[in-house]
Amino acid sequence: MLVRDQINAITLAAPAKLNLFLKVLGKRADGYHELETLMVSIGLYDTLRISADPSGDLSLSCHDAGTILPGDPPRELPPVDRANLVLRAAELLRETTGVRHGARIELVKRIPLAAGLAGGSSDAAAALVGLNRLWRLDLTSSELHELAAQLGSDVPFFLCSSAAAICRGRGEIIEPQALPLRLHFVIARPRTGLSTALVFKHCRPSSTPWSARDLADAWARSDLNRTASYFHNTLQEPAERLNSEVVTLKAWFARQPFVGHMMSGSGTSYFGLCRSRRQAMQLASRLGAIRLGDVFVARSRP
Ligand code: C5P
Repeated sequence: MLVRDQINAITLAAPAKLNLFLKVLGKRADGYHELETLMVSIGLYDTLRISADPSGDLSLSCHDAGTILPGDPPRELPPVDRANLVLRAAELLRETTGVRHGARIELVKRIPLAAGLAGGSSDAAAALVGLNRLWRLDLTSSELHELAAQLGSDVPFFLCSSAAAICRGRGEIIEPQALPLRLHFVIARPRTGLSTALVFKHCRPSSTPWSARDLADAWARSDLNRTASYFHNTLQEPAERLNSEVVTLKAWFARQPFVGHMMSGSGTSYFGLCRSRRQAMQLASRLGAIRLGDVFVARSRP
């Protein structure tokens, strides 16, 4: 997470993630699913600008970054009330530490909602980091990690300084991975999204014989073909049953020369791994022309 400090204000870049591997191992007694996943953060960012509010109020405003094409419908924005994880993160920090400081948070959205890219979780992690600094709370990384896990299963990953991690448990147990080769992706978010809870409700545990470690090892050897051969997402099959746009994207990606392709997280975003930025730009412009949704080109973060 990139952070820029100003006087009484902090600006943070909150990245999206892709799951290159997501295996559902089984359902737990608490209703969550036990996972093994490999997540990678990518260069597609929301921006949070947080400034001190001496009145003690907590407020959130949200704007679209304005990256949509002329003629496209306006992009859906998240709520700006307590349903937004950013405000929940701020309130959790105040409850935990007992401070009553206020903050004005301006969120500029680029990461699409209900897309399997964890934009809301990343925004929440950025709010924790930003407010911890602005309010001089001095919470340690393990204290922040604990609060992040209370906010959502994907939130702790975004506190990790490494761009890639193998995550277990419900997603909150993080094993950072040093994977220096940066990967190029084309990502499409169709017109409609999917609820994470709904997709998990329809999934069945996977018996895939390979693991996130196999994928990380292939990536560490810079073996792109082998890396893509280990792509797995147990949630893709239920997502395809719930949303036909995922099926349409899959068929399109399968006809193009991607090294590999898959849905991210609980969808509906679909990504293709490319050999170079040049190839990613070419394939993205082909995809943009058929207007199946929003198209992004992004590289894994260093
Ligand atoms: O943790 P988070 O609030 O982001 O999860 C949203 C929903 O996704 C949960 O309420 C649960 O239904 C489902 N989920 C799950 N197993 C996980 C993560 C999420 O069943 N490991």
